[in-house]
Amino acid sequence: MNVREALLARKSVRAFLERPVAREIIERILDAARHAPSGANTQPWQVAVVAGHAKARIEARMLAEFRAGRRGRPDYPYYPAEWRSPYRERRFDCGMQLYEALGIARDDKATRLAQWERNYRAFGAPVAMFFFLDRRLAQGSLLDYGMFLQSVMLMAVEEGLATCPQAALAEYPDIVREELGLADEMMLVCGMALGYEDAGHPVNGYRTPREPVSAFTRFIDE
Ligand SMILES: Cc1cc2nc3c(=O)[nH]c(=O)nc-3n(C[C@H](O)[C@H](O)[C@H](O)COP(=O)(O)O)c2cc1C
Repeated sequence: MNVREALLARKSVRAFLERPVAREIIERILDAARHAPSGANTQPWQVAVVAGHAKARIEARMLAEFRAGRRGRPDYPYYPAEWRSPYRERRFDCGMQLYEALGIARDDKATRLAQWERNYRAFGAPVAMFFFLDRRLAQGSLLDYGMFLQSVMLMAVEEGLATCPQAALAEYPDIVREELGLADEMMLVCGMALGYEDAGHPVNGYRTPREPVSAFTRFIDE
């Protein structure tokens, strides 16, 4: 598999097989991903690979908070407070694609909510990864982090695994830190579901569109 093939094969997967993921495979993935570039070679990534009872405990607590109506307080705003065009439409379309794939009607709020809640279970993946960043670093480290995260996801593809990067898993950072015994200065960047794709599940049966190169690039040579 070459880089292009891996880039095109990666997609967000939201239904997984129960099959566990061997620790050696996760170590191989991280062992390659650690070669991602970072400003001044700071290597700001700190990863918690969570499975089994630890995963179940975190998920149960997040879900309980959500169901109690307590909205999360992420460590940083991942999304804008106000959505403007064209991002608003893209976000809307993204949601519609998901609900259409699952046959959920627009006004079926209960089923939509149930689907959203699956976020807090890492969509049933056997592994949830949590990615932390030392708060004493600066915004630039988030660039480094993005490169690291994509490297993790591409390596997962090479290993026959699937992922879903998840901002939802970072909505209740205090719970995650408490369960993992981490200090407050470890900012939770995002989570990621990791496992083997349930290829027959309709939620995994669509691909999201992209703008063509001409829509976001200008070549200037005079
Ligand atoms: C940092 C990050 C956070 C994301 N958070 C979520 C999430 O919480 N829940 C979810 O279902 N998808 C999440 N996604 C997946 C995006 O919806 C997905 O990447 C986008 O729709 C493009 O689709 P693709 O990944 O299949 O190419 C996230 C993606 C990124 C990069």
